[in-house]
Amino acid sequence: MSEIRFENVSKVFDGNIAALQEFSLKIPSPRLVVLVGPSGCGKTTLLRLIAGLERPTSGEIYLGDDRLDTKDVRSRDVAMVFQNYALYPHMTVRGNLSFGLRIRKVPKETIAARVKEVSKSLEIDTLLDRRPAQLSGGQRQRVALGRAIIREPRVFLFDEPLSNLDARLRDEMRYLIRRLYQRLKTSTIYVTHDQVEAMTIGEMLVVLKDGRIHQVGSPSECYERPGDTFVASFLGSPPMNLIDGTFEAASGKVRLDTGTEFAVAAGVADAIGAERGIVVGIRPEAFGTSPPDGVGLAFAGRISLRETLGHDVLTHVDLGGREIIARGCDPGEAGSDCTVYTSPDAVHFFEKRSGTRIVARERTAEGQV
Ligand SMILES: Nc1ncnc2c1ncn2[C@@H]1O[C@H](COP(=O)(O)OP(=O)(O)O)[C@@H](O)[C@H]1O
Ligand SMILES: [Mg+2]
Repeated sequence: MSEIRFENVSKVFDGNIAALQEFSLKIPSPRLVVLVGPSGCGKTTLLRLIAGLERPTSGEIYLGDDRLDTKDVRSRDVAMVFQNYALYPHMTVRGNLSFGLRIRKVPKETIAARVKEVSKSLEIDTLLDRRPAQLSGGQRQRVALGRAIIREPRVFLFDEPLSNLDARLRDEMRYLIRRLYQRLKTSTIYVTHDQVEAMTIGEMLVVLKDGRIHQVGSPSECYERPGDTFVASFLGSPPMNLIDGTFEAASGKVRLDTGTEFAVAAGVADAIGAERGIVVGIRPEAFGTSPPDGVGLAFAGRISLRETLGHDVLTHVDLGGREIIARGCDPGEAGSDCTVYTSPDAVHFFEKRSGTRIVARERTAEGQV
């Protein structure tokens, strides 16, 4: 079991495309880490650097005490599963599964035993004589998974392995990957642009944008305490409502662009400090149709759209040119006026200029900061 460590890793393509910038991270072993971010943020590049398909422009990568980024590909002991499966089309399933062991000169009997064991665990043992073209997408991805597992690597790398599968198969494979991890306890870095997938699979999330880390934490930490407005709006569907406003130091109140005004807790006022622009974040599910304990923030507007999702209702409320989305409460039909409320405790505060989260300061018993 070895920790994976990235020290100031940067990758610049063609002299000016910075795919990764000063990426530093320690992953304790074993962990199932999900690297999540929009398309083009550098996810695949990071995996390719670990696998040895690319070299960092600067920085170092370690696996335990071994420096990884200078090793040649074959001796790195990591296995990557790709989005498009990348199976050898002219080889049977058995040939695909055993290839990595054959080139490492593993004894024949060992290979046969491993193929049997791995194919059974993935329920592909009846397909061993077929070629990839004779398999469904889900079966191909199981073979790709088997090909990685059979080598017993020190690290698994998954690059959006579910994106070519339909929704049902995705759920099934997601479950399979989690179970595999629980059984093998091999550190896994799983890459996806899909925040729902990230939240359900990961023990640890790394949220990436433009080659930079925005937040590292458990899925619930990142969801409940997003470190900036990017993470706030990237995690969650529909995303957190972000509303611009101004903090007035004299009154200790925040006035939102929607007209809503409310007093902030003393610790928050201390943290904001002077009069300045802020962004307020409210999760859709934090709205209700009655004021919590009579101290709620009220948002009055007109319902522009009511979406029923079977188990849930989304209500789009137009607050005079600006729309918010409420989830779970059901304030009325499209076209009608409504007021939705939220508790001051459910409000997230961000600095307007940087987008960074404002963390309330603790006050001492005397009320001093
Ligand atoms: N071989 C390459 N040559 C030039 N630019 C590349 C290369 N590979 C990736 N990039 C660029 O680096 C950035 C990150 O790409 P990538 O790691 O593939 O992102 P992701 O997997 O998150 O979608 C993108 O701007 C992409 O265009
Ligand atoms: Mg990619």
